[in-house]
Amino acid sequence: MKTINILVTGGAGYIGSCLIPELLKKHDVKILDNLTYGYYGLLPNLGNSNFEFFHGDIRDTKDIENALKNIDLVIHLAALVGYPACKAQPKLAKEINHLATKKLVKYCKVPIVFASTGSCYGPLTEVCTENSPLKPATEYSKTKIDAEREIRKCDDFIIYRFSTGFGLSLRPRLDLLVNDFVIKAVKNKELIIYEKDYWRSFVHVRDIVRSFLFALDHFDEMNHEIYNVGSEELCLTKKDVALAIKKYVDFHLKFAQFGTDPDKRNYKVSFQKIRDLGFKTKYSLDDGIKELIQASMFIDHKKEYYNDKVFK
Ligand SMILES: NC(=O)c1ccc[n+]([C@@H]2O[C@H](COP(=O)([O-])OP(=O)(O)OC[C@H]3O[C@@H](n4cnc5c(N)ncnc54)[C@H](O)[C@@H]3O)[C@@H](O)[C@H]2O)c1
Repeated sequence: MKTINILVTGGAGYIGSCLIPELLKKHDVKILDNLTYGYYGLLPNLGNSNFEFFHGDIRDTKDIENALKNIDLVIHLAALVGYPACKAQPKLAKEINHLATKKLVKYCKVPIVFASTGSCYGPLTEVCTENSPLKPATEYSKTKIDAEREIRKCDDFIIYRFSTGFGLSLRPRLDLLVNDFVIKAVKNKELIIYEKDYWRSFVHVRDIVRSFLFALDHFDEMNHEIYNVGSEELCLTKKDVALAIKKYVDFHLKFAQFGTDPDKRNYKVSFQKIRDLGFKTKYSLDDGIKELIQASMFIDHKKEYYNDKVFK
């Protein structure tokens, strides 16, 4: 793809912090972010003349209009992310995830790549394909489905339903399951897991980044479609994840009979559709576990590392 001007909403977050340096290798990049979780993720880009930061709010019409000036393509990441944060602030979740996306679609005249989530499927027994019925169990997944509906009104769009991310980013997210398990195993030397046999699907954050680069290179053939992003090898139970960590960390692992996951995720996902176009993930669970173990000496339990704690 030729060099273009890309707007990334929410570009200072967990995914954006990894994505922006990769985009900047070829493109001009502007970020619209209100810095809910700080600015550290942006630091490596400062000084790059192709990088521009716009401190604003995706809910604000003027900020959207200004941010969209001279833009060729939008990657829409900004959101209130995860079910605990959305449960704690349902009005904010609707405003940011749904209504701000609606407004963005209204003013945006260029193609959009949208970060949606596998959480949209909810509790499904069959293997989820992009055509499976959506049974959102939380405010987070409901507002993301509402956002998908808005995005589909755009002339040109790609919707990605990501598996649960894991791995290191300059803006750590320790509320994500794999990251959470590793840090607890290392720091607390103990991990208590409920619903140990529940299936989840995972994707390394650097593979999420690769999927966006893939979308830029294959936009025309991918246009107007939804894709699950992840890999079948990373459809794992919580117990699988804990046992994988045990290969590297000595900790006490306990399976609890009580406790439930409010977003009721227990599902397997097919990634055939995007694989058929040539996209394959590269990073394994062990890659993520090993880097998180290394990073654990620098990471403390700051509240901004947990999306679920910030808004309480
Ligand atoms: N990380 C995952 O595992 C995962 C999985 C599936 C989907 N997603 C989707 O990917 C996107 C990015 O997720 P993330 O993990 O990087 O989350 P994150 O919480 O780290 O990043 C969200 C970013 O959006 C910004 N933001 C929030 N409200 C805003 C507002 N009103 N105006 C401007 N900016 C605002 C925040 O400051 C933050 O930088 C989200 O849309 C999320 O739903 C993430």
